Amino acid sequence: MGLSKTIWTNPTEFLKNQQPENPVLFFAPSVVQAMARRFIEGFPGLVTYAVKSNPGEEMVENLVAAGVQGFDCASPFEIDLIRRLAPDAAIHYNNPVRSRTEIAHAVARNVKSWSVDSHSELAKLVEMVPADGCEISVRFKLPVSGAAYNFGAKFGATEDVAVELLKTVAAAGFIPSITFHPGTQCTDPAAWASYIREAAVIARRAGVKIARLNVGGGFPNHRATGVVPQLEATFETIGRIAREAFGDDLPALVCEPGRALCGDAFTLAARVKSVRDGTHVFLNDGLYGSLFELGQIGIIDRIEVMDAAGKRRSGAVHPRITFGPTCDSIDRLPGEVPFPEDIAEGDFVVFHGMGAYSTVTNSRFNGFGELGLVTVLSLRL
Ligand SMILES: Cc1ncc(COP(=O)(O)O)c(C=O)c1O
Repeated sequence: MGLSKTIWTNPTEFLKNQQPENPVLFFAPSVVQAMARRFIEGFPGLVTYAVKSNPGEEMVENLVAAGVQGFDCASPFEIDLIRRLAPDAAIHYNNPVRSRTEIAHAVARNVKSWSVDSHSELAKLVEMVPADGCEISVRFKLPVSGAAYNFGAKFGATEDVAVELLKTVAAAGFIPSITFHPGTQCTDPAAWASYIREAAVIARRAGVKIARLNVGGGFPNHRATGVVPQLEATFETIGRIAREAFGDDLPALVCEPGRALCGDAFTLAARVKSVRDGTHVFLNDGLYGSLFELGQIGIIDRIEVMDAAGKRRSGAVHPRITFGPTCDSIDRLPGEVPFPEDIAEGDFVVFHGMGAYSTVTNSRFNGFGELGLVTVLSLRL
């Protein structure tokens, strides 16, 4: 990714002056810092950042500046990144399946918190990780709705397995905890309520008092016009249900948001390469680029279109089939995108709320994928 250190007032100022040929992601540090403070002040426990959602150094540095002191890492690469940028931060290695080489790497980097969802992976941790002062969180799953897709399809133990795992963790001398992830872009606080109640059942059945309950990521970012995430309502639900469900055995709470912290701090500007014979729109970014996630969780509708001079297109909405730049026919944005009818070659299509799972899933397929990164004071066009 090309990095521009110049700070621009807003995306419009950059786009009309620079006329970029490649897609550009605009980053507003003020937005991520404000979101981090909102979590730190509102969430009733420790706020950690899921590095995978956007591991950009500018992202991590701004989170640290805003007071984030813990990071959820999925790999040795992410562990090393955090040890370099935030040497004193807590690292939670919450990818429940790891090779022995990866476990050894994390032990050598003084990682003290791990998650697990199976007997085979717990056996590896018991064998290789010194138990003293070390936490292992048992990750479980529930068939609840509310998220953009089902995270339980890959990770999470059933209730019965979680009970056995928790007993083994405690018996082996580790600090026993529980964790879950309700699924990404989860807009329903009731999902957390169900998970927290079930965590209390698991702890009770295992006869283990847990030290911490990690309520995962999954907090939504602003993707739909007029539907602003109600984070504080979710924080309130989490605190209240945890007190109700655990009573005197209330564990310390942890969360590990990715998208909610980084998502709204980035705006993407893609360019219209062609409006083919007045019908299909071809952009210079697509599903193999920073719009990868749209294919998984659906279109983001916070979209604005401006001409090359920076003037907002305001024609009536005319939905279009929209393709990315590669020769692959699956490189198509979901459904039909509600563009203004006067959209034209050379225009900029601006997608707001694009900071999560965008820079990091961008590929160089077909030789595309060169992204600009530009810092702006404000993301308002
Ligand atoms: C263990 C874990 N924690 C946190 C996250 C972050 O989720 P989100 O970006 O939905 O907040 C993920 C995402 O995959 C995850 O796997």
